[in-house]
Amino acid sequence: MLVSAKEMLNKAREGKYAVGQFNINNLEWTKAILLTAQELQSPVILGVSEGAGKYMCGYKTVVGMVNGMLEELGITVPVALHLDHGSFEGAKACINAGFSSIMFDGSHYPIEENIKMTTALVNTCDVLGVSLEAEVGSIGGEEDGVVGAGECADPDECKAIADLGVTMLAAGIGNIHGKYPENWAGLSFETLEAVKNKVGDMPLVLHGGTGIPEDMIKKAISLGVAKINVNTECQLAFAAATREYVEAGKDQQGKGFDPRKLLAPGFEAIKATVKEKMELFGSVGKA
Ligand code: 13P
Repeated sequence: MLVSAKEMLNKAREGKYAVGQFNINNLEWTKAILLTAQELQSPVILGVSEGAGKYMCGYKTVVGMVNGMLEELGITVPVALHLDHGSFEGAKACINAGFSSIMFDGSHYPIEENIKMTTALVNTCDVLGVSLEAEVGSIGGEEDGVVGAGECADPDECKAIADLGVTMLAAGIGNIHGKYPENWAGLSFETLEAVKNKVGDMPLVLHGGTGIPEDMIKKAISLGVAKINVNTECQLAFAAATREYVEAGKDQQGKGFDPRKLLAPGFEAIKATVKEKMELFGSVGKA
């Protein structure tokens, strides 16, 4: 059964580790992430962007697929199904479809608007036991057409949003989605510390997990980050493994064209990436 992300993130914050949010795109992605979490006895959050939700036919299809897998793969570790960077309408649609966790990303609105819209979702989520992530200070880079500049959040604005009663908070600290450019300045731990001092015990979320050096990940966790989002890195691993298979001509040998064979190396590559991240985040054995 899907669970809210609240309990797993509070435990992570107290235990000084982070739970990974891995974005899903299809059956192979979902199965690879769930099986790895089960093998490593780690809690996990499946992230679904609005674009990925559409790609998979819609939120109900996603909920049906994930619930079916939890049962038929015998998954017993805590799993949350989470809308990533949701709009207000998207958040409502996912709550109705049966998601157990929602991100409402109001970071591109003026702070008063962000507060108003986040407030409108707090009660509904509370009553239904759905966890709610809010965002202040947009995360840079491009994700599903949403482009942000990689700002550092204003700690007072973070407090204003945290005080509304959200479950977890994503604050921009110079992080960006996708690959980091050569001249990236790194995470702003100064901002992270200032945010942490204002919001107290609220679990913080680090977006743009792909390509952040290990020492920065560990420092971020020590400063209150309890959820780390990874998307691009699984895509790169899947693409590289699939390319290798095709370039080696394996799709032209025997029944190598069978999708269950063709997609297997990419599937294994996602599993390896997720394992590496769970070990780095410290969530192994924490289910
Ligand atoms: P990356 O694609 O950079 O790993 O970021 C993922 C993310 O933050 C999803 O919200």
